Amino acid sequence: MMDGRAHPRLRGFGTSVFTEMSRLAIEHGAVNLGQGFPDFEGPDFVKEAAKAAIDSGRNQYAPSHGVPRLRAAIAASWTQDTGREVDPESEVTVTSGATEALFDAVQAFLGPGDEVVAFEPFYDAYPAAAALAGGRLRPVTLRPPGWSFDPEELVAAFGPRTRVLLLNTPHNPTGKVFRRDELSVIADLCRERDVVVLSDEVYDRIVFEGAVHVSPATLPGMWDRTLVINSTGKTFSLTGWKVGYAVGPAPLQTALRAVHQFVTFATATPFQEAFATALEVAPGLGYYDRLREEYTARRERLRTVLEEVGLRTLPVAGAYFLLAEVAGHGFRDDVAFCRYLTTEVGVAAVPPSAFYADPNLAPLLARFCFAKKTETLRKAAERLRRLPPQPGGV
Ligand SMILES: Cc1ncc(COP(=O)(O)O)c(C=O)c1O
Repeated sequence: MMDGRAHPRLRGFGTSVFTEMSRLAIEHGAVNLGQGFPDFEGPDFVKEAAKAAIDSGRNQYAPSHGVPRLRAAIAASWTQDTGREVDPESEVTVTSGATEALFDAVQAFLGPGDEVVAFEPFYDAYPAAAALAGGRLRPVTLRPPGWSFDPEELVAAFGPRTRVLLLNTPHNPTGKVFRRDELSVIADLCRERDVVVLSDEVYDRIVFEGAVHVSPATLPGMWDRTLVINSTGKTFSLTGWKVGYAVGPAPLQTALRAVHQFVTFATATPFQEAFATALEVAPGLGYYDRLREEYTARRERLRTVLEEVGLRTLPVAGAYFLLAEVAGHGFRDDVAFCRYLTTEVGVAAVPPSAFYADPNLAPLLARFCFAKKTETLRKAAERLRRLPPQPGGV
């Protein structure tokens, strides 16, 4: 329970359902397909670079906005992908994970009473960042099967106090990759209403068959109002390193840095050096292609298991989650289903209603993470086969 002296704006941000599911998973020895992190190692060439950086004495504070070599590598990678030259000094900032970049940016552009528009379901850090700035999140609901949005609902979510639009593509938890035509609708509105776009692209290297990742920053007239946020976590399977960054125009970076310097000041130096190596070396090694191929295989492995036990999965275009329909299993809501699955079947999943401002809008689904070793997925499969078709839940 939260201390009574905690400020009311923290209301609703106590222990999350993610924490509860992880606790239940440990208590019941469940295979954890809930939390979104890889249970396999990141690449040796990146880990070796971190060890070398520590051993060569790169252990003191980094410049607040990031070590020059990493900023140069981020800028080069952006140019490689988009064709746009980026100034590493003024247009790149390194943060402690994408989460810190998102938090800093929201604090930078939002004040009490201001509003953020975000597509729902959304990553749980978004409403918390808005609330801590004294602002309000205005959700626009994505609906299955295509997880598209109603442009009229989007227009209606914009008001006189809208300062920021938060976008996540590829999207957690749905696996949606926003198409260029959808991004154009969003971009037109943001330009018209002079709104800043924070584009969370942490899964940009994990896209599947035919899907193309497009950053809204690359649309006409959007560079000047967009901060693109990314990190080492998903791309290099090193979620514990928490090295993130923002790419975008200098005036937006100046605002972001004003917050960043007082939140963490700087990010772990040796991990920044290692991330620089990762970005410099990865394309030449064919690393990104291999990552995509491996994730395609992991996704298919988990999909086969889920379908086999009667959990129909929705199509995914990106990121590393599968959503499965759980309506046929007799549960009233997704939280009850996930509790049952964790405690009785021994496999932890996450209820997507936790990603909604109004949980009642959530379709009856469960989110399973496939960033897991074959061995983990095999163990999960054995247990999921115990799932009766109609367990007659609560
Ligand atoms: C959509 C999204 N954004 C950001 C993050 C967190 O990134 P980081 O670990 O770099 O803070 C996650 C992690 O699950 C995520 O799913």
